[in-house]
Amino acid sequence: MEISGKIALVTGAASGIGRATAIALSGEGASVAVCDIDSEGGTETVSAIAAQGGQASFFEGDVSTPSGVRSLFAAVEAAYGGIDIVHNNAGIMTGDTPGWPEVGLEKIKLVISVNVAGVMMGTGAAIQALRKRGGGAIVNTASVAALGPMPNDPMYAASKAAVVNFTESCAVLAESENIRVNAVLPGMVDTPIIGKTGDGVNPAAWLRPAIAATTFLQPEEIADVVLGLIRDDSKAGSAELVVPPDNS
Ligand SMILES: NC(=O)c1ccc[n+]([C@@H]2O[C@H](COP(=O)([O-])OP(=O)(O)OC[C@H]3O[C@@H](n4cnc5c(N)ncnc54)[C@H](O)[C@@H]3O)[C@@H](O)[C@H]2O)c1
Repeated sequence: MEISGKIALVTGAASGIGRATAIALSGEGASVAVCDIDSEGGTETVSAIAAQGGQASFFEGDVSTPSGVRSLFAAVEAAYGGIDIVHNNAGIMTGDTPGWPEVGLEKIKLVISVNVAGVMMGTGAAIQALRKRGGGAIVNTASVAALGPMPNDPMYAASKAAVVNFTESCAVLAESENIRVNAVLPGMVDTPIIGKTGDGVNPAAWLRPAIAATTFLQPEEIADVVLGLIRDDSKAGSAELVVPPDNS
């Protein structure tokens, strides 16, 4: 599908991969709804888009609650008159305060609410919006962590595996609704989520050996793949792995 002239909604767009996707979509001529719980970062993303001559607005919204998702999509539709592209990208890791296995139910619920229910509710709301436009494209951010064990944050890995399975189940919508739902599975990307595993800036001790053993991807490399999934009308229900050449 052509990106130019479309309306795109990106969640988790206050930093990292979501910000890079929002900027890239704008660079291709889309109007972008920058969505996040972080209004400061979201406003910075909007400013970065404006600085390159693009069109974007910030929408504060929590994807982990039904009312947050409902009001977010309603506000974007009201502002732009419709939505054609949705990147369900907001996500969190469990963190070390405390981490597995001491972690309590509240934190487990939060990881599942943001990473799994957020993507499911975001996809549901997106389908309802996109069908009014005769179709569109949805990309869900999973992770390479979906594909194997992650002993120090099994909640995160399991949540991302759920996103992949969920996305595969949505493949049929291409035929029935002209809505293509795909997932991107990044390897380790240089974004603030890495520091949030530890004290907010420095990564958790358990993650450091993995960081030393890999080459960080840049958020723009993931954005490129997301835009590719949006453009490629043959892709539906696919899980696109993005890893550095030395990790493939
Ligand atoms: N960085 C990596 O190595 C990596 C690898 C694979 C997958 N991912 C995934 O990529 C996605 C983006 O993460 P990132 O790496 O850019 O990290 P990030 O921390 O920079 O971005 C995540 C964004 O999500 C937002 N967010 C968190 N909870 C939210 C909620 N309830 N509602 C709305 N927004 C919320 C945060 O405020 C933040 O801006 C996540 O789903 C993450 O799991 C990241």
